[in-house]
Amino acid sequence: MKRWWKESVVYQIYPRSFKDSNGDGIGDLRGIIEKIDYLADLGITMVWLNPIFSSPNDDMGYDISDYKNIMKEFGTMEDFEELLAKFHEKSIKVILDLVINHSSDEHQWFCESRTSKDNLYRDYYIWREGNGKEPPTNWGSEFGGSAWKLDDRTGEYYLHLYSEKQPDLNWENQKLREEIYDMMRYWLDKGIDGFRMDVINKLAKDQNYPNGIIEEGAKHASFRPFSVNIPKVHDYLREMNKTVLADYDIVTVGETSGVTPQIADLYVRADRQELNMLFQFEHMFIDRYPNKWKKKAWKLTDLKRVLNRWQTELHPDSWNSLYWSNHDQPRAVSRFGNDTAFREESGKMLAMLIHMMRGTPFIYQGEEIGMTNVSYENLEDYKDIEIHNLYKEEVLTGRVTEKEFRKAIDFAGRDNARSPMQWDDTKNAGFSKGEPWIKVNNNYRQINVKNALADENSIYNFYKQLIQLRKTYDVIVYGDFQCLNLEDERVYAYKRQLKDEILLVVANFTEEEIDFKLEDIANSHRAKLLLSNYPQVDETFKSTMHLKSYEARTYKIIL
Ligand code: GLC
Ligand code: CA
Repeated sequence: MKRWWKESVVYQIYPRSFKDSNGDGIGDLRGIIEKIDYLADLGITMVWLNPIFSSPNDDMGYDISDYKNIMKEFGTMEDFEELLAKFHEKSIKVILDLVINHSSDEHQWFCESRTSKDNLYRDYYIWREGNGKEPPTNWGSEFGGSAWKLDDRTGEYYLHLYSEKQPDLNWENQKLREEIYDMMRYWLDKGIDGFRMDVINKLAKDQNYPNGIIEEGAKHASFRPFSVNIPKVHDYLREMNKTVLADYDIVTVGETSGVTPQIADLYVRADRQELNMLFQFEHMFIDRYPNKWKKKAWKLTDLKRVLNRWQTELHPDSWNSLYWSNHDQPRAVSRFGNDTAFREESGKMLAMLIHMMRGTPFIYQGEEIGMTNVSYENLEDYKDIEIHNLYKEEVLTGRVTEKEFRKAIDFAGRDNARSPMQWDDTKNAGFSKGEPWIKVNNNYRQINVKNALADENSIYNFYKQLIQLRKTYDVIVYGDFQCLNLEDERVYAYKRQLKDEILLVVANFTEEEIDFKLEDIANSHRAKLLLSNYPQVDETFKSTMHLKSYEARTYKIIL
């Protein structure tokens, strides 16, 4: 079925690092407003803003202390209303981050909740007695340490799957749920166009709170079997849909690590009336094992298997999102491409590979100019709580060396994606006139928006063309997908088809030049080259294509 959000191209803004308008070193809403023309020119049709609500910023806005107000560093409610109106003038939709698995410990609900066992808000959070001197269960938090924190006031523990300043909300409590629904309406009634829902598949917890298995070498058990995709989460989402979402023409995107296409159907198949699409994470794990900090060699066939199954195994009435990066992941070109000799070529190749697939594409700020990972000199230059907790847990206890730690954060640290947006070659990359809250990547003189706009062959201009293609050919949005060379470790080739509209996408994932044979299709058809990441390509369509380093092409087959 046709839906506007299936046809969208989304741009993700991490407001803190996008553009600082007042020189305090922190990106803000007025900074975003300054850049609306830039985004409109790129051609995107929706933006997703990472959390912009009041927060002590223990986890950069994912710890919300007041859901109905704007973080003071980011601006005012008037600024937000202006931002929304100005995006809408350009026909760009705006979705906000909905963080409702947990709040900040500085939220008024939690301040009340912790005061006494019979406080009216006690049950808004998850409180349990300890197990003797031990926490209620052996679960570890996502950011290290136990997932439970003892609170002296009442002698009980509260659950926090993330930092101890992010207590989990108790979704069993109906009053809490109603307050959340009310808050969602507050934003929807302002005219926003939907929500990206933070860790939404963790809302329900196994009410038995069992202990988990502690893997060898680990200190805690994973909470995942007891807090991820627990059946009751679907009751909550259906209730939310019925009570709130169904009344608005909006889009919802759930962040759900730990889902397969079959599990995803339960969240997004249209007749389930829960969400519209998900961020799945399977392709974010092909290069890591056994945890996110450990690099693993990956093969193109691994990537194909994962991406292909998300193209073909979802129910026809389900929908998917497409992405290479976000604020939690390293930069795509550093991770899956080559960020030195072939930064431009591989950045474009990756973009084409994913933008020609079925699903709604998300572009993370800076990806469109090929921004790369950072590596800072001092530990204090890093701002992410996850990195600092890892240091305390692993380096200070002598479990890993300083050098191993550096390697791990260079590879997987979230600050890779959070260095300021590189606008030009002036001081601080044009991001701020003050001291940026986090350091600029020192390659900003070369990699920046100003250069990208001036160069017709830039990655930026390539993204622009990809977006235009999606707006031109229905097959890109709605066509079927078929991978043409599953076992090939060097080239990824696939076909898209919608009735008699057929596209062929071929992408060389290596530095080598390759003679790539595609006999079946090439022998029986003619084709028109729609786009390629090399300026000069032999446009005649042959059964053997000579592909240069990281070369990618999209053809339209002429029947
Ligand atoms: C999500 C966010 C991440 C945050 C976490 C806790 O994974 O994307 O940035 O730390 O949830 O809210
Ligand atoms: Ca600012």
